[in-house]
Amino acid sequence: MIVLNTCHIREKAAEKVYSELGRLRRYKEHRANSGRPMLIAVAGCVAQAEGEEIVRRQPLVDLVVGPQTYHRLPEMVARVARREGRALAIDFAPEEKFDSLPQASSQKGPTAFLTIQEGCDKFCTFCVVPYTRGAEFSRPVTQIECEARRLVDAGASDITLLGQNVNAYRGEGPSGGAWSLADLLRLLANIDGLARLRYTTSHPRDMSDDLISAHRDLEILMPYLHLPVQAGSDRVLAAMNRQHTRDDYLRLVERVRRARADIALSSDFIVGFPGETEDDFNETLTLVRGVGYAQSFSFKYSVRPGTPAAASKKQIPDDVKDARLRALQALLSEQQNEFAKTCERRTMPILFEKPGNKRGQAIGRSPYLQVVHADDAETCIGEIRDVYIEQAMSNSLKGILVEHLKHRIAVH
Ligand code: 5AD
Ligand code: SF4
Repeated sequence: MIVLNTCHIREKAAEKVYSELGRLRRYKEHRANSGRPMLIAVAGCVAQAEGEEIVRRQPLVDLVVGPQTYHRLPEMVARVARREGRALAIDFAPEEKFDSLPQASSQKGPTAFLTIQEGCDKFCTFCVVPYTRGAEFSRPVTQIECEARRLVDAGASDITLLGQNVNAYRGEGPSGGAWSLADLLRLLANIDGLARLRYTTSHPRDMSDDLISAHRDLEILMPYLHLPVQAGSDRVLAAMNRQHTRDDYLRLVERVRRARADIALSSDFIVGFPGETEDDFNETLTLVRGVGYAQSFSFKYSVRPGTPAAASKKQIPDDVKDARLRALQALLSEQQNEFAKTCERRTMPILFEKPGNKRGQAIGRSPYLQVVHADDAETCIGEIRDVYIEQAMSNSLKGILVEHLKHRIAVH
C-alpha cells in the first residue's frame, strides 16, 4: 500500500498529487500483472479538499482519507481488499478520531509530538486551514495527560504539543471547566521523566498573560517560541485579518522576553500578499531587524481558491514576489547565522537522539531546536548531556561533551 500524505497550505499541491498518481499508475499495473496487487491511498488536506474529484479523475486510487478519519483506515482497507469498491472518508469529527487512538504507543526515540488542538477560527484571509481543518477543537486535559505519560513511559523526554492554533487551546479540565494552554503546561510539567516541553504553532492574539508567565515559571518549557507575524505593515496585517498590529506584536515580544530573557524566537512570513507595496515590504524587513529571529520560514503568497485574498484584484507579479522573498531570506539567514554564532563557546544541555554519520558520533538538539553533533557520544543517545559548543556550521552546531572536555584539559 502506498499512502500519499498531502498538505494543502500552498498552491500546486493538488497538481503534484495528480502527477504523482500518474507516475504510480504504471507501477500499480506492473504489480497487478505480476500477481502482487497493491493499494493506493491519498490522505491529508488535499484528500479533504478534493474528495470525490480524486476518485473521479484517478481510477487507480483505492482510498481517499481526510485528516479527521484516519482511524477508519483499517476498516476502509478491509473493505477495499474484499473488493467492495473504493473508499472515501472525508467527514469532520475530530473527537471520534482521538477516541480511537491506540493505547499502545509506537513511540521511538526521545522526542515526540502530541496533538492537543486542531482547526482554526481565525480566518486569516490568505489561509485554507479554517476550511480544510474546520473549527477549533481542543482535546480534554485527562486524555492529553494520559497520552503524555504513555509517551514518556515509551522513552520520550522532549514533547512538543501540537495544534494549528495551539495557544487558543481551551480543553475540558479533569473536573469540568475549561483549561488554558498554560494550565495544561503546568500539569504536564510534573510528569516524572519528562525533561522538555514545547508547543507550536501560536497566534500572537492568544499569547495570554498566564502563558507568558508559564515561560517565566516553568523551567521545563524550552526557551524557544514560534510566533508567526506574517508581515510587518499594519495595512497588510489588517488586510490579512491577523487581528493585531505591528506594535501589538513588538510589545508582545518585549513582554515574552521580559518573562524569559534567553528566549529565542522564530516566525513565518508571507511576501507579496495582494496589495503589498515596496513600503509595506520594507516594514517587514524593519520588523525583522527589530526583533531578531533565531529561525524563520518565509513564503511567497500563494492564491488559495475560496479564501478572501484569492479574489483580490491587487495580486503581485511573481517576479516581484521572488525579489522580496530573496531579500527577506538573505536577512533571515544572516540572523540565523548570528544566533548560531552566539552559541559558540557556550555550554548547552543537548538531548541526544540518534547516531551520526561518523563512527561514535551522536546527533542531538539544543533547547533552541538546533541540530548538534558531538563525537564519542553514541552512548548518550536518549539522554541530556552538557555539551560545549565549539563551532557553528551552516545548519548545525559542533560540540564536545563537557566530560570529554575536562579529560582533554587534564591530558594537556
Ligand atoms: N500563501 C503563502 N503562505 C501561506 N501560509 C499559509 N497560507 C499561505 C498562503 N496562501 C503560510 C503562513 C503560515 C504557514 C504555515 O504557511 O506563513 O503561518
Ligand atoms: Fe491559518 Fe494560522 Fe491564520 Fe489560522 S491563524 S487562519 S491556521 S494562518
